[in-house]
Amino acid sequence: METLSCIATRHSTRNFKPDMVPESLLEQVIEAGRLAPSGKRMNQNHFLVVRSPEVLEKLTLLVREEFAKMELTPETEENIIGAIKRAKKGDYVFRYNAPVLIIVANKKNYGNNMADAACAMENMMLAANELDLGSCWINQLRWLNENPVLLSYLRELGMADDERVYASLSLGYSALPDGLPNRRVLEVKGNPVTYID
Ligand SMILES: Cc1cc2nc3c(=O)[nH]c(=O)nc-3n(C[C@H](O)[C@H](O)[C@H](O)COP(=O)(O)O)c2cc1C
Repeated sequence: METLSCIATRHSTRNFKPDMVPESLLEQVIEAGRLAPSGKRMNQNHFLVVRSPEVLEKLTLLVREEFAKMELTPETEENIIGAIKRAKKGDYVFRYNAPVLIIVANKKNYGNNMADAACAMENMMLAANELDLGSCWINQLRWLNENPVLLSYLRELGMADDERVYASLSLGYSALPDGLPNRRVLEVKGNPVTYID
């Protein structure tokens, strides 16, 4: 696929088949993340690739429980209101039941942590599109990245003490009947451009 076409036809997938991603495709997606640029070429993104159904289920449960504990106040950040409301209802699955979750952690005390993670995320989403896989950026683990329960569990899984989660990616085959999210090129609203000649 041409790069520009791959960019234009990438869309988020939120409905996944349970089928596992073949090893060779998964490796290519991860490698695309590892090849992403980073500030001063620090290459400090740490990719925790979760395929274990038990671990995915445990993460789902912990995220649901931790959001459900939160009270909605006028100060609650707009972005997480929906997550708290759905978690309180009890059936919240933050990762859309994809068979793979790639968690991108980076050093807590590093100024480019979020930017480096974002570069890796976009590379992985584009690689997924090229390989006929669906993907979706998942923010919940970042919102909870100082939560002691999640921190403790992620450290058990191999995240270092000085790392925090900055993004994660649900990955798998799209369950939409027309295959990968339609491969449509959608009109972009927003993102203004100002030329200064
Ligand atoms: C920083 C960032 C955070 C996002 N967080 C989530 C998320 O937590 N859950 C989700 O379903 N989509 C999330 N998305 C996906 C966006 O909602 C999506 O990219 C946007 O609506 C445009 O749609 P498209 O990806 O299909 O082009 C996130 C995207 C970005 C860039």
